[in-house]
Amino acid sequence: MAMYVLFSAAGSPGVTTSVLGLALGWHRPVVLVEADPTGGSAIAAGYLKGSIVPLEAMIELALAHQEGQPLLEVLPAVSVDLPGSRVSWVPGTRSHEQARTLLGLWEPLTSVLRSLDQTGQDVLVDAGRLGLYGSPEPLIEAADLALLLTRTDLVSLAAARSWAESLRERFTRAGAAPNLGVLLVGEGEPFTAREVCRVLGLPVLGTIVSDSTAAAVLSAGQAPPRAGLGHRLAGRSDWQDSPLLRSYRATRSAITARVRAHLDELEASSRSGS
Ligand SMILES: Nc1ncnc2c1ncn2[C@@H]1O[C@H](COP(=O)(O)OP(=O)(O)OP(=O)(O)O)[C@@H](O)[C@H]1O
Ligand SMILES: [Mg+2]
Repeated sequence: MAMYVLFSAAGSPGVTTSVLGLALGWHRPVVLVEADPTGGSAIAAGYLKGSIVPLEAMIELALAHQEGQPLLEVLPAVSVDLPGSRVSWVPGTRSHEQARTLLGLWEPLTSVLRSLDQTGQDVLVDAGRLGLYGSPEPLIEAADLALLLTRTDLVSLAAARSWAESLRERFTRAGAAPNLGVLLVGEGEPFTAREVCRVLGLPVLGTIVSDSTAAAVLSAGQAPPRAGLGHRLAGRSDWQDSPLLRSYRATRSAITARVRAHLDELEASSRSGS
């Protein structure tokens, strides 16, 4: 059980869409936290097309913490089960003006999310764009895997490079360098994973296909493309077989394997040291 935190350096490369795409097919129960301080829950407005008006989950959590209530007990009450999935969604704030309230929430929320380990739940966090006021720094630093998501064009990589450098220093100082990596949207469009890895000095741990029509199913609640005859006769949907969903599946396997391998290593070295 682990916490995965995704964020961007600039632009809107697809953090929210990717977190949602990864979460919807997650292989065990997962808590999806919208911790982007920008506000205006993109999942409520996009994927759910405004069909659910969620609670002010973050504000409820912040108030509960101020009143001394255990966040572990409040969390399920402010979460929403996303239909047809094992995702328990903690909606983000409605407005950037609430970012100040969030500042005192991130530390205690980090401890609670990490403790979900015991309940068999993984955690996926949308941390939004780095450097914003109210950014969930403690969540990023405590992640089992902190993932900088970027496209591969020059403008995106120029922004990602300056952040990659400071993140690398911060994680190395904390002895957590293996907990940091990169996810690419649109690998090879134009730069390859190998080139990005060399320029950013961070490992590329997953590549997500760039497909704006398919992505809109998740980011804007568009209907999935109609299945072709061949797929229908085989009882499958085009959507489940789409390159985008396949790339989420591959990325999910790669990042969970990475965390598992790292935890095994830590366990082995603590056993050999004791
Ligand atoms: N894999 C993808 N391929 C093509 N388009 C994508 C992909 N993922 C997301 N998009 C599109 O990119 C746009 C931005 O996506 P999204 O809101 O997820 O980005 P973001 O990084 O969370 O942005 P912000 O920082 O503004 O919250 C949306 O139109 C979405 O459909
Ligand atoms: Mg977003």
